[in-house]
Amino acid sequence: MHPDVEKLFASEEELKQIIARLGRQITADYAGKMPIFVGVLRGCFVFMADLVRACDLPCTIDFMVVSSYGAGTTSTGAVKIVKDLTENIEGRDVIIVEDILDSGNTLSYLRKYMMARKPASIRIVTLLDKPERRTADVKADYVGFAIPDAFVVGYGLDYNEKYRNLPYIGVLKPEIYS
Ligand code: IMP
Ligand code: MG
Repeated sequence: MHPDVEKLFASEEELKQIIARLGRQITADYAGKMPIFVGVLRGCFVFMADLVRACDLPCTIDFMVVSSYGAGTTSTGAVKIVKDLTENIEGRDVIIVEDILDSGNTLSYLRKYMMARKPASIRIVTLLDKPERRTADVKADYVGFAIPDAFVVGYGLDYNEKYRNLPYIGVLKPEIYS
């Protein structure tokens, strides 16, 4: 394990099983439809690559880049769009793909933002959910794991842009960010 990681939260094998389960649920729920997965970069990139391959459905994909965190471990509240949607989502069944739902600021903003573009539906899938930390009114429709309030990295998730390439999810040692 990486020396900055205090303990393993989810192994590669556990991630694989959880994503297979999410893929089965989404495949069943969207049977006969062609959803568009909209990933929230950069954190979603590993999860989304695995998730779309676990969904046995015709689909398209798009990405948005937003920033709100900067270099810290808590959200500043303000969400800035760095890269907008490329595709037209009007009339589409949108599935927003997030790495982690924390305060809910990012997703409550994005959901409103996309709603204004008149999709047929919007659902949210998040790999990780920290329900204790929620301040905005937002719930995910599909959740991989609910987790306690700890700062985790790996499998796409970063601290200061590092650790995204770890193939597992681990709890970062507090001395790294305090
Ligand atoms: P929210 O807007 O507070 O819900 O923040 C969501 C974003 O914060 C996520 O997409 C992550 O980029 C980041 N984030 C929140 N908690 C963690 C964590 O434990 N590790 C890494 N990134 C996190
Ligand atoms: Mg993110």
